[in-house]
Amino acid sequence: MTVLTSELRDQIIHAADLLRKGGTVAFPTETVYGLGADISIPSAIHQLFKIKNRPVDHPLIVHFSNISQLHYWAEEVPESAWQLAKHFWPGPLTLILQRSRHIPNSVTGGQDTVGLRIPNHPVALTLLKALGSRKALAAPSANRFGRISPTTAAHVQEELGQTVDMILDGGPCQVGLESTIVSFSDQTAIVLRPGGVPLAALKSVLNERVILADRNNLTVRVSGTLASHYAPSTPLEILSSESIWQRALNLETQGLRVIMILCSVANKTQSTSRNILKFYLPQESGAYGKQLYATLRRFDHKGFDRLLVEAPPDSTAWLAINDRLQRASYNTLNEHK
Ligand code: TXA
Ligand code: MG
Repeated sequence: MTVLTSELRDQIIHAADLLRKGGTVAFPTETVYGLGADISIPSAIHQLFKIKNRPVDHPLIVHFSNISQLHYWAEEVPESAWQLAKHFWPGPLTLILQRSRHIPNSVTGGQDTVGLRIPNHPVALTLLKALGSRKALAAPSANRFGRISPTTAAHVQEELGQTVDMILDGGPCQVGLESTIVSFSDQTAIVLRPGGVPLAALKSVLNERVILADRNNLTVRVSGTLASHYAPSTPLEILSSESIWQRALNLETQGLRVIMILCSVANKTQSTSRNILKFYLPQESGAYGKQLYATLRRFDHKGFDRLLVEAPPDSTAWLAINDRLQRASYNTLNEHK
């Protein structure tokens, strides 16, 4: 867990000053690093979209620090939303609710709903508190649109460099995948983006009143639900444990360099050749999720022609991971086969 040294506290005070003046500051959350701007300053919000190269009609998540402010930012809060907020905040959960008049149009892409979240990270919470009680930060993941989300301050530096006013370093993110996004229909929670809070945990709080949205059929603009997203530059393929080795050998005979990202014990017996490298991720979904983005980033731009990922188990604990891998592989499926 990140310790707030006096040096880090001073940096947070400075960051809050920059944000009050309309600046942009990247900061750590438990999920991924966000790029923050004060929602009440239109030029700052404009700058966020510009830095990320994100279409302005894609809504942003609004981050705040205290659950007592929920009614200030949301017009209506269904009972089931309250239950989830009380149970999971601060934490990796974003609630889509009717927005109040305090949420500007520029943040929601003109929609009448807003995504709200209280992040669980001491740097994020201290920063939000330093800003003041009726203040909130819009914070998309601190990457260029469509790319892999950053899970360390160094990743943000790589992605956005000098284009942001400040990067707060709070160490590597503990969850490593974005928040679970939930909207509501009557008292049923609809999961728009699987993420840090597992489906089973939502179900246990809402007595099973949870459904997974059909993501090919979404009417709201959820950028994380675009078919291609979270993508490395190196073409990525997902293959079964049985077929991944053969695929690697086929690519090698075409003169291509391959990196395999594996997660099962079975593959450990296979030996590698000069143009096929292997890397192992943990077999437990939480530990795998925490390392996934950093691993994709680590092997991107390293001269590999193909990233082959061994398909993780198809169970609900792996839902968010399988979702991100599928989006990361989309361009490969359509361009390289
Ligand atoms: O874990 C996270 O959620 C991170 C950290 C920084 O908090 N943030 C994040 O933000 O992933 P971003 O902008 O990369 O993704 C936010 C997603 C987008 O897909 C956006 O379309 C969706 O939230 N979203 C925001 N407001 C929405 C709304 N009113 N209705 C539907 N989707 C919404
Ligand atoms: Mg994002």
